[in-house]
Amino acid sequence: MIGTKGRVVAVNGNMVSVRFDGAVSMNEVGYVKVADKRLKSEVIRIRNDVSQLQVFEITKGITVGDEVEYSGDMLAVELGPGLLGQVYDGLQNPLPLLAEKTGFFLERGVYMKPLSSELKWNFTPSAKAGDKVERADTLGTVPEGAFTHRIMVPFNLYGTYTVASVKPAGSYTIADTIAELKDEKGNTVKVTMSFNWPVKRAVDCYEERLKPKEPMVTRVRLIDTFYPVARGGTYCIPGPFGAGKTVLQQITSRHADVDIVIVAACGERAGEVVETLKEFPELTDPRTGRSLMERTIIICNTSSMPVAAREASVYTAVTLAEYYRQMSLNVLLLADSTSRWAQAMREMSGRLEEIPGEEAFPAYLESTIASFYERAGIVRLRDGSIGSVTIGGTVSPAGGNFEEPVTQATLKVVGAFHGLSRERSDARKFPAIHPLDSWSKYKGIIPAEKVSYAHGFMRRGSEVEQMMKVVGEEGTSIEDYVIYLKGELIDSVYFQQNSFDAVDAAVSPERQIYVFDKLLKILASKFTFGDKNEGRSWFNKLRQRFLDYNGSEWKSDRFTSLEKEIEAMVSERSGGLDKTIEKLLA
Ligand SMILES: Nc1ncnc2c1ncn2[C@@H]1O[C@H](COP(=O)(O)OP(=O)(O)OP(=O)(O)O)[C@@H](O)[C@H]1O
Ligand SMILES: [Mg+2]
Repeated sequence: MIGTKGRVVAVNGNMVSVRFDGAVSMNEVGYVKVADKRLKSEVIRIRNDVSQLQVFEITKGITVGDEVEYSGDMLAVELGPGLLGQVYDGLQNPLPLLAEKTGFFLERGVYMKPLSSELKWNFTPSAKAGDKVERADTLGTVPEGAFTHRIMVPFNLYGTYTVASVKPAGSYTIADTIAELKDEKGNTVKVTMSFNWPVKRAVDCYEERLKPKEPMVTRVRLIDTFYPVARGGTYCIPGPFGAGKTVLQQITSRHADVDIVIVAACGERAGEVVETLKEFPELTDPRTGRSLMERTIIICNTSSMPVAAREASVYTAVTLAEYYRQMSLNVLLLADSTSRWAQAMREMSGRLEEIPGEEAFPAYLESTIASFYERAGIVRLRDGSIGSVTIGGTVSPAGGNFEEPVTQATLKVVGAFHGLSRERSDARKFPAIHPLDSWSKYKGIIPAEKVSYAHGFMRRGSEVEQMMKVVGEEGTSIEDYVIYLKGELIDSVYFQQNSFDAVDAAVSPERQIYVFDKLLKILASKFTFGDKNEGRSWFNKLRQRFLDYNGSEWKSDRFTSLEKEIEAMVSERSGGLDKTIEKLLA
């Protein structure tokens, strides 16, 4: 089939206007032909016989009159076994292979197959001739790393099909036909182990969406105990420059209780992307001791690609996440940073001369962000099994001002907010999640009443601290001062977590639940001190013990003996417990 053709009539940055002859649809892929190169582009607006395309490459050299070929296909990703462990750019080009082929400076107009067509996979059929199947039903499986990769009826085969034949167990490439299906009219469709799906359309081959309830444990105390994230839920991490967004996402990608992690790195600095590429493969999976990369996919932008590619990368990433969700797996998608993506939208919108909204972002910024996060979710598949996609996105607002449009639009749709604070990161209090301003709508691993009891001390402690700045320590009562010390204690032994300490870096939910009760007892104890100095030095000593306790192996001898020491210190000082806590700890 010969696709529609057109000619460039105008070039504006990485947007070209093309007059065409024939039929063209939104989000269709077109190739601008310049010299001997074909530059991949996407149709983002159509007016009569002129379409606007965003070019995913540097547009240098494109001139009026250049030919454009429309492909007839939407911007899509290839789905199939072999995605895990890959590092792709936003257009699903395997970056290491691309670099091998074109050298360090990636050449434009070079596109490579996302999945190897030579690699053989060990296929085991599960469907048989005569079975009635629908899209996303399983025809067979192949092992992919530690997972059972379902070979499914391509998601774009709508309707009911009858299996005519399935290949016997054996090894096949993704290009081999593994099954033949007959549609209701009797036409035969050949199915291979891979197929394409348009990135801007949410994969919807499930029976029903469920309410995210179960916590997705991250082993970061501040998150799991105070501001939890649910499996299939969404959260955002806004934070000023250098406050620890990327590090927090890396910690999460390592320790989160999920099967697969997909990282969409739209870093603004080339260095950052290189860092991700270098560091990630060296990380080990704490659960298996093998390379973390085996259950990870990285989508990242190279500095040689223009902003449009950032746009593509978040959609590519979420589509891959949805694909693995169809295999009844729990997937975590981390997007860093969504602000870069929003800036790409702003740039394009400007070129299209659309009526600008706040801070020149397009009026549809909110709805676009919302529809991205809505692709998260926990679903029940047709076979009754459950899969989930959880999305966490960082936002990097200029000057750390959370009032700006991208942060605000994101806050409207996500279920949890982990706001990073400049003050805390400057003080090297990590993770720099703000303990008072953050929030979560999800249920965590610890009952809400207990959490809010501890939170109360943090809030009141911070009020006393503010007051002390005005009236000085002398003007503060000893009772208030003890509340301040208790607030400080929670901050240093529970909120802050040492990501360089082998034990403290990742805390199991059992340990969090256990230790939190110990902490609550300290908070609820009525302490009396002769003066503030005495109180301060006693709390300092307690804090040090507690930090050692945090650093000791769960339930080890050292752990138990430090716990005894802490309890002895407390009971020696305590004049009884606050009444409210007795009910909570009962
Ligand atoms: N949990 C942590 N433990 C120890 N150090 C940390 C932690 N988080 C961040 N840091 C320190 O802060 C630095 C900056 O962190 P990071 O690169 O994650 O910030 P960012 O918010 O992603 O910045 P940018 O806005 O530039 O993307 C790190 O290089 C590290 O030194
Ligand atoms: Mg960063």
